[in-house]
Amino acid sequence: MNPEKIDFYNLGFNFIETKQMFISNFKNGKWDEGKLISFGPFEISPAACILNYGQGIFEGMKALKSKTGDITLFRPNENAKRLNISAKRLLMPCFDEKGFITAVKNVVKANKDYIPPYDSGGALYIRPLMIGDGPILGVSPAEEYKFIIYTVPVGPYFPEGFKAIDLEISKEYTRAAPGGTGFVKTCCNYAGTMKPAKETKSKGFAQIIYLDASNMEYIDEVGTANFFAFIDNKLTTPKLKGTILPGITRKSVLEIANTNLGIETEERDISYKELFKESCSEAFCTGTAAVITPIGSITTDNEKRVFNNGEPGDLTKKLYDLLTGIQRLDIEDKYGWVEKI
Ligand code: PLP
Ligand code: COI
Repeated sequence: MNPEKIDFYNLGFNFIETKQMFISNFKNGKWDEGKLISFGPFEISPAACILNYGQGIFEGMKALKSKTGDITLFRPNENAKRLNISAKRLLMPCFDEKGFITAVKNVVKANKDYIPPYDSGGALYIRPLMIGDGPILGVSPAEEYKFIIYTVPVGPYFPEGFKAIDLEISKEYTRAAPGGTGFVKTCCNYAGTMKPAKETKSKGFAQIIYLDASNMEYIDEVGTANFFAFIDNKLTTPKLKGTILPGITRKSVLEIANTNLGIETEERDISYKELFKESCSEAFCTGTAAVITPIGSITTDNEKRVFNNGEPGDLTKKLYDLLTGIQRLDIEDKYGWVEKI
């Protein structure tokens, strides 16, 4: 799409075609150099492993524009590392981490006209995607792969923006089970969440909070974001136990809360019942797409808890201002997380 026709001030989280994508092929046991090409379709065998058995992984990142016009990435090395953790779980070939970051930067530069302006609050979403495209019949890894990076200009993931969202705790569906793939970013993890998301949206909720599959008691995460709550004045988040995606925003928020705001943080099992007690004062979720999204209410089949009259809590707002301030270079990045392109 012609960038001049895009209304950068009213973007949602929807696909918009940009100019160029990066593509690298893995054949005969190695990745080729990769190159930038025009965004567009490619041929794929109907017997490709990704089409039949879902051998695919991805990442999500954002390029932002600072007030002074710099283009920034946030902790891209963390995405490079996580992609390879996902690759190992699905028996896919790792991609060189430095090569990953260089390719991301080149794709962003090639699509720089699509980066929303600083004051729009939008971002250029970056989607690194690796698929097993070699043909296969038995359930085993492909011999050939594609690694693609494309970009899309986006606004907020939840149409509410920085407004509190209403979530439902599912007692029916789970997202991940112990020993499964919940801790990595595989395409299949998301396919199973579409029906629960559709059903909860039809009831007026923005998303589901998934509980742990073993006990249906402890919070795992929100469909596309990690979960946080202030409980007993501690910033508390579910501990990583193989069923939760180790979010890069999650890790950053824990560090900012601790070192910048002096808030005590805790990673532990959180029973959903704790969210209905007075000792739980605020809740929010985090992710590249979701940034920090305040939670206004949480509902189960027989209870509803409203936080702060459905408005973002003070600490949630402080953390949001700090995180986005660092990401957009409005606040000094003393952590060394932001990379200029
Ligand atoms: N959990 C899930 C299931 C996600 O899809 C995401 C988004 O990537 C996150 C958590 C948050 O991770 P990050 O902060 O690295 O974007
Ligand atoms: C992200 O936050 O980057 C995600 O991947 C979430 C979702 C759009 C799948």
